[in-house]
Amino acid sequence: MSEKNVILGITGASGSILAQRFLETARCDIHLVISSNAGTVIEYETGRKEDDFKKLAKHVYDDRDVAARISSGSFIFDSMVIMPCSMNTLAKISSGIADSLITRAASVALKERRRLILVPREMPLSQIAIENMLRLTQAGAIIAPAMPAFYTNPKSVDDMVDFMVGRVMDLCGLENALVKRWREEERD
Ligand SMILES: Cc1cc2nc3c(=O)[nH]c(=O)nc-3n(C[C@H](O)[C@H](O)[C@H](O)COP(=O)(O)O)c2cc1C
Repeated sequence: MSEKNVILGITGASGSILAQRFLETARCDIHLVISSNAGTVIEYETGRKEDDFKKLAKHVYDDRDVAARISSGSFIFDSMVIMPCSMNTLAKISSGIADSLITRAASVALKERRRLILVPREMPLSQIAIENMLRLTQAGAIIAPAMPAFYTNPKSVDDMVDFMVGRVMDLCGLENALVKRWREEERD
């Protein structure tokens, strides 16, 4: 059976470790695009270079290349995930701006009614950000904020990261062992 095709956009919000974990563990073909502002955050937060992230993906595209394969509605993919998603990218997508490959591919996902999962990270949220998220939800996107759960009794940042990344994989329909599921022991 062929692997699922997932587009992963990484933007300049805090939380590069979420994208790193997804790249390391997702069982799918990843089409990766990193925004020009994400590199600084990746280096600052993970100590890795943007190129280290690129080595983990099967396909890599330049965010300035709005003519790349994934910019067209004719490219078939299962899900697009933007993780972490900056308020800047979120605002652009919610207003229909498609001036980079990430925002173009996201606009395509919306028009083609494909699964678009945005993982914003910001705190607190302005009214503008909340309204942008509402607009995107109404347009069919899934807003999955980078919010850890505490009922899983996480012991480390890695535990929290795994929970959030695993839940995003759930939304993509990707099997994963990252999520510690509620009352898992009752499963028969
Ligand atoms: C270390 C660092 C952390 C940042 N964290 C966030 C964040 O959590 N959320 C956010 O919306 N923007 C954050 N920003 C600001 C974005 O990087 C900035 O708005 C940028 O223009 C986003 O561009 P992009 O959407 O093209 O990636 C951060 C910037 C830096 C340098």
